Amino acid sequence: MSETEPQFSVDQCRIVELPKISDPRGNLTFIEGRRHVPFDFQRVYYLYDVPDGAERGGHAHKALHQLIIPMSGSFDVMLDDGRKKKQFQLDRSNFGLYVCPLIWRELHSFSSGSVCMVLASNTYDEADYYRDYSEFLRAIGGQP
Ligand code: TYD
Repeated sequence: MSETEPQFSVDQCRIVELPKISDPRGNLTFIEGRRHVPFDFQRVYYLYDVPDGAERGGHAHKALHQLIIPMSGSFDVMLDDGRKKKQFQLDRSNFGLYVCPLIWRELHSFSSGSVCMVLASNTYDEADYYRDYSEFLRAIGGQP
């Protein structure tokens, strides 16, 4: 890997379409391990009752892969690999956003009553976080 080709970039993060079974009684979406998610997941967590104007995230993970799914409502996700930023609006429950390791993320503009579910490739480990943006940039060899 050369210095100009980082191992992980926002270009590897992408929208993943999940199956949707539509029915007059409503929609059904299911997620089957590696068939729909590009990693094995060991943890599920969700954000809810997010107050108006609140922001979540504000960190990067060293090794964790995640799939972020808007179970209800909508919110925006800003991804930053230290060189390039990408913004996603998540508002459909059968579309998730795959986020690879070493990506700084900020989640904002949560609609009232929205629920953000995250599938994660590992159990919770605070040592896997970069919570300081400058430290994150230093770790990936960016500025400063
Ligand atoms: P954090 O990952 O900073 O939340 P977000 O990215 O949604 O803004 O986590 C907030 C707090 O919750 C922090 O003290 C760690 C704790 N936490 C767990 O104990 N287990 C978990 O699976 C997660 C995601 C967080």
